[in-house]
Amino acid sequence: MFSITLFLLLQFVRQFVECQNLSSSLSSPIATVSQTSTGSSAFVTNVDLTLEDFWDLYVGPVSTFSINTTVEPTPVPSSSLIPPPPLYYPSFPTGQQVPFQSKNESWKFPKDFWYGVAGAAYQIEGAVKAEGRGPSIWDVLTHRVPNYVVTNDTGDVADNHYYQYKEDIARIAALGIKTYSFTLSWSRILPFGAGAVNEQALAHYDDVIDTCLDYGVTPMITLYHWDLPLFLQNSYGGWLSERIVPHFNEYARIAFGRWHSKVQTWFTLNEPIVFCGFYPFPINYFKKTDIPDVQQPYYCGHHVLLAHAAAYHLGKQINDSLSISLKHNGGYKIQRTDSEEDAIAVQRSWDFQEGWFSDPVFLTGDYPRYLREYVSTFLPDFTEEQKQMINGTSDIYAHDAYTSDFIMAPDTGIEACTRNESHPLFPLCYNTTKLYANDYWAIGAAGDPGTPWLHQATDWVPAFLHYMQDTWKPRGGIAITEFGMSEPYESLKTNLASILIDPVRSQYYRDYLEAILIALAEGVNVVGTLAWSIYDNLEWGQGYGVRFGIQYVNFTTQERYFKASAFHYVNMFDTYLEE
Ligand SMILES: *[C@@H]1O[C@H](CO)[C@@H](O)[C@H](O)[C@H]1NC(C)=O
Ligand SMILES: *[C@@H]1O[C@H](CO)[C@@H](O)[C@H](O)[C@H]1NC(C)=O
Ligand SMILES: *[C@@H]1O[C@H](CO)[C@@H](O)[C@H](O)[C@H]1NC(C)=O
Ligand SMILES: *[C@@H]1O[C@H](CO)[C@@H](O)[C@H](O)[C@H]1NC(C)=O
Ligand SMILES: *[C@@H]1O[C@H](CO)[C@@H](O)[C@H](O)[C@H]1NC(C)=O
Ligand SMILES: *[C@@H]1O[C@H](CO)[C@@H](O)[C@H](O)[C@H]1NC(C)=O
Ligand SMILES: *[C@@H]1O[C@H](CO)[C@@H](O)[C@H](O)[C@H]1NC(C)=O
Ligand SMILES: *[C@@H]1O[C@H](CO)[C@@H](O)[C@H](O)[C@H]1NC(C)=O
Ligand SMILES: *[C@@H]1O[C@H](CO)[C@@H](O)[C@H](O)[C@H]1NC(C)=O
Repeated sequence: MFSITLFLLLQFVRQFVECQNLSSSLSSPIATVSQTSTGSSAFVTNVDLTLEDFWDLYVGPVSTFSINTTVEPTPVPSSSLIPPPPLYYPSFPTGQQVPFQSKNESWKFPKDFWYGVAGAAYQIEGAVKAEGRGPSIWDVLTHRVPNYVVTNDTGDVADNHYYQYKEDIARIAALGIKTYSFTLSWSRILPFGAGAVNEQALAHYDDVIDTCLDYGVTPMITLYHWDLPLFLQNSYGGWLSERIVPHFNEYARIAFGRWHSKVQTWFTLNEPIVFCGFYPFPINYFKKTDIPDVQQPYYCGHHVLLAHAAAYHLGKQINDSLSISLKHNGGYKIQRTDSEEDAIAVQRSWDFQEGWFSDPVFLTGDYPRYLREYVSTFLPDFTEEQKQMINGTSDIYAHDAYTSDFIMAPDTGIEACTRNESHPLFPLCYNTTKLYANDYWAIGAAGDPGTPWLHQATDWVPAFLHYMQDTWKPRGGIAITEFGMSEPYESLKTNLASILIDPVRSQYYRDYLEAILIALAEGVNVVGTLAWSIYDNLEWGQGYGVRFGIQYVNFTTQERYFKASAFHYVNMFDTYLEE
């Protein structure tokens, strides 16, 4: 009885909160909403929504871990720093371990090339309700939306990085890795996305940064990696509304203002193609919108470009020696046959993927041709002033370049698709496959079945890097800001020694870095790489069922272990980094 009554009450408050315009209440962590109901017997009421209420309404109880205060680093056992045997398998058994295959003397990474590892707040931090953090959309997606995460996992504990970051940074440093790229949780710093600042969160990130500096590890920060403060999604639809732009700007102002003197390299937003592609969200959990489903990603993208550009200029104003860039993704597009239709399909694919955000920030301030043809039917054109503001707002081309695809026209041809909104490939109107034109061989070794988008495709990396440089001409060069491999079936393994040998991932890093060395030898300006990921973590909709770490984490005990790939990664720099 009680629970049913409470449930109905919560449903009421929930609908109520969703339907209201909450912008006026954003100045305080207690959200007070006032609104007239829509029924015939209209009435006015107030709901005082504390942070705790907000969690209870939208997320419910969360899990915690036994280590729940910041802990000093566990010393890294020296035995765990012995490289795996052997790093290279000679073609003829010599009875000896060979530390590395013979070095190609034409290759080198320039002295200032940076190499590191990356992670993202919701995927690794855990401690989701600790020290005043507000909920993000991902707390709702993991807790409330059935089957959104195939394993039903949440980020409640994840890698417990929020409390164990000192150990995590010490371990990176012990391996010899010099860069750590992490992301800030917007809803830790601003629990309701805007308004009152949570000082505990600022103090936390102060110490993460200072710990990096103490260990000689360069921190790099990404402001936004998909964990949108829930309140902003519920107030106005998050990225669907231009109202996000000043809120993102305010958040960026706090971060740049506090950390610009200690952190030089910044990324504003991570992979907008992907997070804009999350729209439309599952209905009934977030604010409703009238924007047609198929158009929602492009509304999101529009506001991403405006928010990114505004934040870029703000950061430069605060300190013009910062390096600030948008973080892109996509892959090399290989024309599957030499037909003219497939050539057009390839260009459509560049335009709807990399070009969507890269043409505006590097070339024109505006969308590429095929994308513009579509979005101009419903989005407002950027004004000349907006184009000027957007153009030139990335110092490096930061690309999360995991893999590549073969691209071809739809079976129906392209035009039958662009003219037909019901076509399954509309509005992209190109098709992709991982199979060669013989429909027999895959492009390369497959990752885990949970990541069908990912096969090793390192043969195409040099061509891809040339394409990026020639097309978008980034003034500060190209950085591969994420790359990595989901070792097939890794999460099914229970034997520690088996888990720690990860041959598919090791090969991927070795081949990929060789491909970068080839491109460097050919004159492409690649300036850094970040391996994804620092360790196993919550792989979004795949939960902990897909693993990307160069370290294994036992999620029962939160103990960390280096995998063989960590040594393969570092060894390439030990061998090829210029003195
Ligand atoms: C919400 O409030 C803001 C600020 O008062 C206003 O600019 C905006 O038009 C309102 N939106 C709606 C849908 O009422
Ligand atoms: C922290 O964990 C301990 C057990 O390790 C538990 O007794 C305590 O209640 C926890 N504190 C908080 C604030 O969750
Ligand atoms: C996840 O939860 C849903 C609903 O609670 C349930 O139907 C499903 O079987 C669960 N999936 C797994 C993998 O446990
Ligand atoms: C500007 O940023 C750079 C890089 O982080 C830093 O070295 C410098 O001290 C900052 N300038 C000021 C005035 O703080
Ligand atoms: C965009 O900026 C680049 C330099 O960053 C410049 O070469 C180009 O002409 C600009 N494009 C437009 C349309 O203003
Ligand atoms: C897209 O390609 C797949 C093969 O990868 C094919 O089965 C499918 O029919 C194609 N779809 C369209 C609409 O062309
Ligand atoms: C549009 O696409 C749908 C789905 O593929 C198809 O059933 C329909 O016949 C197409 N309409 C036209 C006019 O081609
Ligand atoms: C993880 O830790 C648990 C608890 O100590 C242990 O039972 C399990 O074997 C460990 N898993 C691996 C792969 O070492
Ligand atoms: C060494 O690198 C150069 C430049 O990339 C390349 O042309 C050559 O084939 C490489 N040699 C070997 C043995 O791989």
